[in-house]
Amino acid sequence: MTHRILFVCLGNICRSPAAEGAFRARAPQHQTDSAGTSGWHIGDPPYGPMQKAARARDIDLSDLRARQFVAEDFHRFDLIVGMDADNIANIEALRPGGSDTPVRLLTDFAPHTGADHVPDPYYTRDFDGALDLIEEAVEGLALHLRTQH
Ligand code: 4NP
Repeated sequence: MTHRILFVCLGNICRSPAAEGAFRARAPQHQTDSAGTSGWHIGDPPYGPMQKAARARDIDLSDLRARQFVAEDFHRFDLIVGMDADNIANIEALRPGGSDTPVRLLTDFAPHTGADHVPDPYYTRDFDGALDLIEEAVEGLALHLRTQH
């Protein structure tokens, strides 16, 4: 079964494009997109250091461009996946009345890591650490979708 999954972070140039790229490489049968809760980087490609770190793992982010998360995304996707609690709050603030689209943390799909968010590598500069966690979690997400009916 094909699912429509939207990955969301703050800028849509580091964590959510990396999650989209890692997930689509792992599970290409699903429809994916990513977005930022801010409009700071609309139209920009993923951040250079993140693209480089992803490329080293054979994850190509070069076709992705940032856009802002909008309320309509609740209708366009089956599952919305945020990177931290601020993302979840900003997403939920736009939930249309009557929408029951699930909004989850990416780290919910990697409980064994003990992480409760994906630290923002734009600030930490730990692009490989973010990718390690993202890769673990998208693996868990792909498994979750396979075992759903
Ligand atoms: P992201 O990281 O939310 O993972 O894309 C950020 C990128 C840029 C900024 C903040 C976070 N910024 O302030 O420009």
